[in-house]
Amino acid sequence: MTDGMLSRRDFLRGALAAAGLAAIPAVRAQPAARLLRAMQGSVPLVGPDYPATGIWGYEGAVPGPELRFRQGERLRVALSNLLPADTTVHWHGIRLPNAMDGVPDLTQPPIAANGGRFDYQFVLPDAGTYWYHPHLGSPEQVGRGLYGALIVEEPEPPAVDRDLVWMLGDWRLDRNAKLVEDFGNMMDASHAGRIGNTVTVNGAIRESFELRAGERLRLRLVNAATARIYALEFRGHDPWVVALDGHPVEPHRPQRGRVVLGPAMRADLILDAKGEPGGTYPVVDDFYPRRVYRLLDLSYAKTALRGGHAGAAIPQLRANPVPEPDLARAQRHVVEFGGGMMGRMSRGMMRGGMAWTVNGVATREHDHEPFLKLALGRSVVLELVNDTQWHHPIHLHGHVFRVLSRDGRPTQHREWLDTVLLSPQERAQIAFVAENPGDWMFHCHVLEHQSSGMMAVVRVA
Ligand code: C2O
Ligand code: CU
Repeated sequence: MTDGMLSRRDFLRGALAAAGLAAIPAVRAQPAARLLRAMQGSVPLVGPDYPATGIWGYEGAVPGPELRFRQGERLRVALSNLLPADTTVHWHGIRLPNAMDGVPDLTQPPIAANGGRFDYQFVLPDAGTYWYHPHLGSPEQVGRGLYGALIVEEPEPPAVDRDLVWMLGDWRLDRNAKLVEDFGNMMDASHAGRIGNTVTVNGAIRESFELRAGERLRLRLVNAATARIYALEFRGHDPWVVALDGHPVEPHRPQRGRVVLGPAMRADLILDAKGEPGGTYPVVDDFYPRRVYRLLDLSYAKTALRGGHAGAAIPQLRANPVPEPDLARAQRHVVEFGGGMMGRMSRGMMRGGMAWTVNGVATREHDHEPFLKLALGRSVVLELVNDTQWHHPIHLHGHVFRVLSRDGRPTQHREWLDTVLLSPQERAQIAFVAENPGDWMFHCHVLEHQSSGMMAVVRVA
């Protein structure tokens, strides 16, 4: 990391503070924190024929810098807020200490607009694909482009030719490629959330993605949209899913050949480039049946990288050190998600800007009474009930959970997730050890649903 380092003076001041202000020089040099500036920027999302789009981004870019660390390393990031609004950074999916979780008023004060600063540092216990984004006014702040990938590499990563990230963004733009600023309107909030009209891969509409026959790719997909759900089909290819939400899963072909990602969800794919040199193969998103579109083309170079594809066995990633829940002794709770259009949503709620509930309560941002109290170290089984006509990706902070069953049927892979996508009227049973002390957010990651009631706090103590 050569760019974005703190000045030497900042670093020394920090080191002295850490040493309890003693006038003893710090003995061991620690790597300096990486400076990350939340700021305004201008990005050619749509391409050269349109004006650039004004965005909010980390380092003024979309996505923000890809942060890469090794498993077990300590992340140190100094967030400098140059935006005209308060913000925070949440490190989505990381099992970190509560004080580093980036939830305003719950775990830290907001980082003030126009110059506020906050130092994040914590150890990264798990390898995998994660991401970072604000947790204040999120429909607007994520909707304007504040997000980036956080990649934690395994000590011995599987052999691939390229390891890369596709961050999927979704934007509501007008004819001049300008953001439509109707964030948080009740129409979006009470339906599927703010679904835009422009899907980007790593901050731009892409015609094609170049690859060479015979290559093996590790493709890390991150859904950074506030509301859009993707169902990606790689025509002419058979990717293997090897990790979900960062955590290894038994390698498998995606169901019905579609990689389905709700907001905030990730999938690591092993994609063998088995197409013909010179060929093009579309990647199609057909999650919304009336809005099927081509995300981009996989476009093959004229010459192959090697004959036949890498073809070797599909790598099985080593499990992360997540404690296994003890189902026989687990504490059990039912959590019901309600509200939304065509559901039991009262007019009074709508007038108050609320549309959704968790166990009957619509919670506002900054309101943080815990609705569930879990004993530290206890195993927990939650029965999540989606009593609405809408999809909800439900996210728990500070922990990962196994998905045991859906609608009463055991899941095939008992996958570890931090965000589980519930279909309309679906139920899912999840299990985890309440291992991480603190107050943790538990909310829908359709950010317009979160901010109109579908959030709650779980206390682990
Ligand atoms: Cu990705 Cu509470 O957030
Ligand atoms: Cu939701």
